[in-house]
Amino acid sequence: MSTSATQRRLKGKVAIITGGAHGIGEASARLFNKHGAKVIIADIADDAGHKLAESLSQWAVYIHCDVSKEEDVRAAVDLAMEKHGQLDIMFNNAGMVDSHRSSVVEYNMEQFERTMNVNVKGVMHGIKHAARVMIPRRKGCIISTASISGVVGGTTSYGYTASKHAVIGLTKNGAAELGKYGIRVNCVSPYLVATGLIMNYSAKGKNEMETWGSSLANLKGTILKAEDIAEAALYLASDESKYVSGHNLVVDGGFTVVNHDWGLYRP
Ligand SMILES: NC(=O)c1ccc[n+]([C@@H]2O[C@H](COP(=O)([O-])OP(=O)(O)OC[C@H]3O[C@@H](n4cnc5c(N)ncnc54)[C@H](O)[C@@H]3O)[C@@H](O)[C@H]2O)c1
Repeated sequence: MSTSATQRRLKGKVAIITGGAHGIGEASARLFNKHGAKVIIADIADDAGHKLAESLSQWAVYIHCDVSKEEDVRAAVDLAMEKHGQLDIMFNNAGMVDSHRSSVVEYNMEQFERTMNVNVKGVMHGIKHAARVMIPRRKGCIISTASISGVVGGTTSYGYTASKHAVIGLTKNGAAELGKYGIRVNCVSPYLVATGLIMNYSAKGKNEMETWGSSLANLKGTILKAEDIAEAALYLASDESKYVSGHNLVVDGGFTVVNHDWGLYRP
């Protein structure tokens, strides 16, 4: 579907999307670009990232960026400044899940550290370097991808749960400090989306995974897709959310607000 000029909600804006080569990041890169943003896809999946950038408008570029390395994130932000002279939207979306589901007693601390390096330090690097170039312009918008695992415990591993709680904390701190510069800082928290992140650790096929996720969900009759999270990120990136800051936009169909075991409204 084509997007008319009046519907271009990010017209003229420059956006970096980390983890932009696949899944939620890819859907966001496509949607942001469709809405007029000049998108910088920052990822470690070089082939997929280059291919995606080539398939988008001439303004889209790819940069290799491991978010756990501060110098890589610094370079991605510097690329936005060199190429466009501004950075309007920093979407800290890159993330990984550690596969360790066993008891805390056997928990592999190396996996914990790796998860923290990517999911927490990666977001911190993004907030830090985006703020560096946004503060002088006194505007900008920083979004990070947290998770329902940042709201409730027990849905994933210790490392992932801790890291996503931390993303929400970083979001609140960022909003608290950067509000005085007109910079908004928010995060989005998805329920299960059948992307590579999940599928790589499952024997299930995509349809089967979506059916399984839907069977455990609160909201019935629809399935959460990467494009739905991209729409939530688009709202936070656009001027339509101009007074929203420090917010965690939970996109979970109500999963985190109810425990149906109680039984009052059990489906
Ligand atoms: N899929 C879900 O159910 C779900 C639910 C809640 C939150 N999330 C979060 O959404 C975000 C996106 O995940 P997704 O589901 O699209 O997964 P995905 O695996 O499809 O995409 C993740 C992308 O991040 C990139 N990446 C991984 N490590 C990186 C690093 N160190 N530096 C830069 N890029 C890196 C990967 O190459 C990939 O392109 C993650 O932060 C994830 O934790 C996903």
